[in-house]
Amino acid sequence: MLYFERQRVGDKVFVRRIIRLNKVDSTNEYLKRGNFEFGTVVTVKEQTAGKGRLGRTWISDDSDNLMMSVLLKSTGIQNVWEIGFLAAASVYKTLREFGIESKIKWPNDLIVSNKKITGILVETKINESLESVIVGIGINVNMMNFGDLELKATSMKKEKSKDFDCDKILFALLENINYYINEYLMGYKSFLDICKSNSYLIGKKISIGGRIYSYMDINDLGEIIVIDEDGKTSCYSPNEISLEDIY
Ligand code: BTN
Repeated sequence: MLYFERQRVGDKVFVRRIIRLNKVDSTNEYLKRGNFEFGTVVTVKEQTAGKGRLGRTWISDDSDNLMMSVLLKSTGIQNVWEIGFLAAASVYKTLREFGIESKIKWPNDLIVSNKKITGILVETKINESLESVIVGIGINVNMMNFGDLELKATSMKKEKSKDFDCDKILFALLENINYYINEYLMGYKSFLDICKSNSYLIGKKISIGGRIYSYMDINDLGEIIVIDEDGKTSCYSPNEISLEDIY
């Protein structure tokens, strides 16, 4: 069960404190180290050890990109995957507001023109019975050169041939996160529908352990459901498989 301090999640007041840093190892690590309150947001201009999922690194050059983490709380980690989906739907909606149509690649990468534009890293910190859930989001905003990742990564500027204001994107994103949290508190999870109906994997073949599967859906545990050529279905969690090669 996710736990949001209801009285503090009223319309537009959910984010109470934004810490702006010039340089840090990782905004996720920064929030993990301290004892911050629910809703604290950290942004940074330069990350020296940006973290990605599955032990990967997150690289951002000195162009203006959005790297932020927000601290949420949960009474258990069972539903933490839902926070990742909530974040992905929030980014999806934000990109859309800035004229960019994206797809959500399970579990929570955002894809535009078959290239990654946003990565999300959800981590937990156990503190007595209460978990802190740290949601780290990296949006490629004004980055133009991706080096070896040129074929796999893109940015808002690359897609639209214009500069974007990171602060405007940040505030729109926080508002969308706030919106989905409020909705969650009222018992709705439209963020799940957004992730499912805009899945990048719809119609794609997926190779797992040498077998070819077709994507079917996402189940109630946040696992991917796939079907093989013999009609047998299997489910996998984000920790079991990586879909890194599917673009
Ligand atoms: C991924 O695609 O594997 C997840 C990337 C997450 C990157 C963001 S940038 C801000 C926050 N701080 C980190 O160290 N990582 C996340």
